[in-house]
Amino acid sequence: MRSFIVGLSALVAVKALDVKVGNAGGNSTSGLQYGVMFEDINQSGDGGIYAELIRNRAFQGSKVHPSVIDPWTAVGGAQLSLQTLSQPLSVALPTSLKVAASSGRVGIANPGYWGFDIKMKSYNGSFWVKGAYNGAFTVSLSNYLSNQTLGTVNVTSKSTGNDWTEHSYILTPNIAAPNVNNTFSITYDASSTNGSLNFNLISLFPPTYNNRPNGMRIDLMEALAGLHPSFLRFPGGNNLEGDDPPYYLKWNETIGPLKDRYGYPGTWSYENTNGLGLVEYLHWCDDLNMEPVLAVWAGFYLNGPVIPADQLQPYIDDALNELEFIMGSTETKYGALRASLGYPDPWTIKYVEVGNEDNLGGGGSSYESYRFQIFKDAINSKYPDILVMASTADYNFAETENAGEDYHEYTRPDYFVGQFGFFDNFTRGFKTMIGEYAAVQPNIPQGGGVDWNATRWAFPMWIGTVAEAVFLIGAERNADKIFGAAYAPTFQNLNSYQWTPDLISYSADTSSDVLSTSYHMIQLLSAHRISQTLPMSTPEFDPVYYVAGYSNSSNSYLLKTAVYNSTETVHMSVTFEGVSDGAEGLLTILSAPNGVSYNDAGSNVVTTRNITVTADSGGCFAFELPDLSISVLEVNG
Ligand SMILES: *[C@@H]1O[C@H](CO)[C@@H](O)[C@H](O)[C@H]1NC(C)=O
Ligand SMILES: *[C@@H]1O[C@H](CO)[C@@H](O)[C@H](O)[C@H]1NC(C)=O
Ligand SMILES: *[C@@H]1O[C@H](CO)[C@@H](O)[C@H](O)[C@H]1NC(C)=O
Ligand SMILES: *[C@@H]1O[C@H](CO)[C@@H](O)[C@H](O)[C@H]1NC(C)=O
Ligand SMILES: *[C@@H]1O[C@H](CO)[C@@H](O)[C@H](O)[C@H]1NC(C)=O
Ligand SMILES: *[C@@H]1O[C@H](CO)[C@@H](O)[C@H](O)[C@H]1NC(C)=O
Ligand SMILES: *[C@@H]1O[C@H](CO)[C@@H](O)[C@H](O)[C@H]1NC(C)=O
Ligand SMILES: *[C@@H]1O[C@H](CO)[C@@H](O)[C@H](O)[C@H]1NC(C)=O
Ligand SMILES: *[C@@H]1O[C@H](CO)[C@@H](O)[C@H](O)[C@H]1NC(C)=O
Ligand SMILES: *[C@@H]1O[C@H](CO)[C@@H](O)[C@H](O)[C@H]1NC(C)=O
Ligand SMILES: *[C@@H]1O[C@H](CO)[C@@H](O)[C@H](O)[C@H]1NC(C)=O
Ligand SMILES: *[C@@H]1O[C@H](CO)[C@@H](O)[C@H](O)[C@H]1NC(C)=O
Repeated sequence: MRSFIVGLSALVAVKALDVKVGNAGGNSTSGLQYGVMFEDINQSGDGGIYAELIRNRAFQGSKVHPSVIDPWTAVGGAQLSLQTLSQPLSVALPTSLKVAASSGRVGIANPGYWGFDIKMKSYNGSFWVKGAYNGAFTVSLSNYLSNQTLGTVNVTSKSTGNDWTEHSYILTPNIAAPNVNNTFSITYDASSTNGSLNFNLISLFPPTYNNRPNGMRIDLMEALAGLHPSFLRFPGGNNLEGDDPPYYLKWNETIGPLKDRYGYPGTWSYENTNGLGLVEYLHWCDDLNMEPVLAVWAGFYLNGPVIPADQLQPYIDDALNELEFIMGSTETKYGALRASLGYPDPWTIKYVEVGNEDNLGGGGSSYESYRFQIFKDAINSKYPDILVMASTADYNFAETENAGEDYHEYTRPDYFVGQFGFFDNFTRGFKTMIGEYAAVQPNIPQGGGVDWNATRWAFPMWIGTVAEAVFLIGAERNADKIFGAAYAPTFQNLNSYQWTPDLISYSADTSSDVLSTSYHMIQLLSAHRISQTLPMSTPEFDPVYYVAGYSNSSNSYLLKTAVYNSTETVHMSVTFEGVSDGAEGLLTILSAPNGVSYNDAGSNVVTTRNITVTADSGGCFAFELPDLSISVLEVNG
């Protein structure tokens, strides 16, 4: 074996590394959980994973973003205007679209969220109308570029001048659109009206994941499922916090029928529909078998205002009411509300996060002195088993059994790699989740961390992805302290993004999702969960970083490795105590050209190689790893 390496290194520069893995005595008996962080950032909920296809479906507005007609346009010369009728559709949706015309086939058209991906499938739709009309509405999908009608359905009017009436339909196009440049329209015969009709909550859904009404985009859910995630942190992020009073993300305005969902200005420059609400998040968790990590509002708005301690009680009550809504029996007030909306069975919440990044923006001192602890005490007095997490690791709260914290890190590749041992030295008595991390900028000669004033990468880059793997492997070694990790942000709507890099990129075209380099890294590490870390003889790191462990679910030994900044190919010689000669292992190696994210076609650049390796007479698995590679060796035993 040795002589082989020496012989080889005479020809090619090779670094040899021996790793001897013991079979007991690691740090943790529960491995690092890989999860998902989500908030509706730049159209990643509305216009993203939330499958609604109609943009501005209910003319929701606020002081921050007043209601607009855009992107609706008139068909057949009708006059469009916004109206707040004395008899609105609902308190939550006071504004409707008045369509005025006294003759001809007229109506309204919508371009969707940068187009529609139209297939020959069933689309469920509905709209509300007020105003007398004896006739039929024609709902159509057509291609904007060719004017070709892709599908149409006539819906007999039930509309009267006295009240709002809901019309539901199923539209099944008989032609699949050649591109996403399609238009949705509703038309009617104006001569059978009294001169105008009012429309509101005009909705169209494609088939959704698990066929859930008001559900999620199938392609994006499948992409997430591919990561085998264990938890979902929601509903934010900055979007939870809000910018200024009175706007923060209020859970009670995101439940029930869509006509009772208020809009919310959010923090990413558009009005949220709240169609993706609390119950939808919980279904999302159910569908992907993820543990909810529920963030509650913590009395702080991003632009500065802080709720004083003596005025915090209503917001604490609000968080407790939300937990009762989710977990309470149907005998409780909010549990009964849940049941009345069609969900008698409660969900379970094990993790609550109080706020988001409360160390930033001037929220720190109040968070440290009272906000966190008041929320935590109130939640734990009613739910002692919930792990209540601080939204930052900057402060030293009481180190109790049910105290946790959320650590975020955005930095450069070298800096991440320099932090491989960071969690070894972590002496905090909290269960820590890495709720957000990403390599966001290239290395700089002088080293150092992120510069928020400088440009960030538009997409994850392979060197950054390998550095993230080094950081995660450091966390896996310390899974007794670090229980979970989630890349952030998860989604990038290619038609409207500001925060980069992101994990998964998409547009209206569901066949053109791009899974980033970091996606492939997480997919590999997450698919091979360590249940128990295992000790290694005289570990030596740099340029090879690794963690060993055992998986109780697959009954296998695992070695996860990342090679960063090696000038040589690394020749690995790995033994697992108790695994003898002839045993077979599967080695999966990810590699990619340095400094790239996607290729010109916008598709994946990561190469995955599966190699079967066999233990030699000494029980040793010998294999080579190139620089900038990420790998997992899995050996049954
Ligand atoms: C995305 O976010 C940026 C920054 O907040 C904002 O300027 C931009 O308008 C947003 N795009 C959309 C479509 O909301
Ligand atoms: C549709 O095509 C028109 C004309 O080329 C263009 O202005 C518009 O942006 C396109 N819309 C989409 C969603 O591609
Ligand atoms: C589609 O219809 C519009 C409006 O009637 C017209 O201006 C345009 O030329 C038509 N395009 C094609 C390709 O027929
Ligand atoms: C729908 O109604 C329009 C207008 O009356 C009519 O021209 C069309 O043939 C109808 N379409 C279907 C599919 O019934
Ligand atoms: C129009 O208004 C008149 C008077 O209010 C009413 O009698 C009639 O039914 C309305 N509807 C239509 C479709 O004309
Ligand atoms: C569409 O409607 C059908 C029939 O009402 C229903 O079974 C299905 O769940 C709906 N799908 C969605 C995505 O709303
Ligand atoms: C939701 O709860 C908040 C906080 O208790 C309250 O201010 C708000 O009015 C509620 N919204 C509705 C629609 O009841
Ligand atoms: C990687 O190599 C470069 C060039 O030798 C060096 O500047 C940098 O510090 C190295 N990074 C790490 C994390 O070792
Ligand atoms: C961890 O502590 C050791 C021993 O004090 C030190 O050598 C190492 O640099 C520390 N690692 C980090 C990332 O702080
Ligand atoms: C356990 O953690 C310590 C630091 O806390 C680290 O030095 C050691 O390598 C870890 N053990 C394993 C098996 O990962
Ligand atoms: C970034 O810009 C802000 C405002 O211009 C400035 O206060 C801050 O010092 C800058 N930070 C860095 C790291 O340059
Ligand atoms: C590698 O093996 C895994 C596990 O068997 C499999 O899921 C994956 O598709 C394989 N990939 C390639 C590129 O062969």
